Amino acid sequence: MYPLRRNRRLRTNESIRSMVRETIISPNDFIVPLFVVEGKNVKEEIASMPNYYRLSLDLLESEAKELWKLGLKSVLLFVKVDDKLKDNSGKEALNDDGLMQRAIKTVKNAVPEMIVMTDVALDPFSKYGHDGIISNGKVVNDDTNMVLAEMSLSHAKAGADMVAPSDMMDGRIFEIRTLLEDEGYCDTGIMAYSAKYASSFYGPFRDALDSAPVDLKDVPTNKKTYQMDFANREEAIRETLMDIDEGADIVMVKPGLCYLDIVRDLKDAVNVPIAVYQVSGEYAMLKAAAEKGWLNHDAVMMEQVTAIKRAGATMIASYFAKDVVKLLN
Ligand code: PBG
Repeated sequence: MYPLRRNRRLRTNESIRSMVRETIISPNDFIVPLFVVEGKNVKEEIASMPNYYRLSLDLLESEAKELWKLGLKSVLLFVKVDDKLKDNSGKEALNDDGLMQRAIKTVKNAVPEMIVMTDVALDPFSKYGHDGIISNGKVVNDDTNMVLAEMSLSHAKAGADMVAPSDMMDGRIFEIRTLLEDEGYCDTGIMAYSAKYASSFYGPFRDALDSAPVDLKDVPTNKKTYQMDFANREEAIRETLMDIDEGADIVMVKPGLCYLDIVRDLKDAVNVPIAVYQVSGEYAMLKAAAEKGWLNHDAVMMEQVTAIKRAGATMIASYFAKDVVKLLN
């Protein structure tokens, strides 16, 4: 009771504030998403993601070394493949000498201790820009799962530490886990995008990989039949518990900031680590506001990643990872 309790006493100065601080950000909290392209010495800035780049394998190698020096210990790889290699079967995704497979080896060779995670979904390889195979105007579930399992196996063979299925098909974690076990990859982990919403915050990412759903008759123009409806909350728990039953080691909520209620629900409901993906649109919003001088970039960035961790994230996949760690140093 006031004046016996004065809450301001614990805010008197930075020493006291830092002593009672509940959430501390460190380099261990981050997964760094990286976009990979063919070529040599290629570093292309993504128009809607200022200061974020697509890198060729040689520059991926130097980037991995730099990240490691900064204390960042895990990367999440995405590839942008040539239109000529896109089809409706995901064939190129299974190519053991494909860009993803070479990217995995490149990072592992450069920094063996780096945790290499890989995106598993068909959209970068799909001529329709969908995460699965299209048949009769629909994204078909079970046939897609077979390809995702083979794709995961190919990543595991190339040396991936964890595969990260981002597709939201039903039952894909089970199919992936089963095939990895059968083939002797029992140590390869699965980070499941469990509560992934059909969000408009993915726009800049789709620019980065040129992977947006195409606007064609007889093909869905959005991902709402597999990604979750952003109006739903309980469904996120259902999705996540299923993925854990099927063998997910880490579960994910995506996007980040607008979905922190979901993060807290999962934190209370599950006992595996929770990853949060602070997505491309979240990155773009802050960069744009900061460019205009409307927001203080570094201060807002730290507030955002701290809020994500405070909500219950064990780790954060974020395009800000390097900026944050440089600031911490
Ligand atoms: C594709 C995938 C997407 C993202 C990660 N994996 C886009 C989508 O589902 O359309 C989005 C990441 C971001 O926006 O930063 N399976």
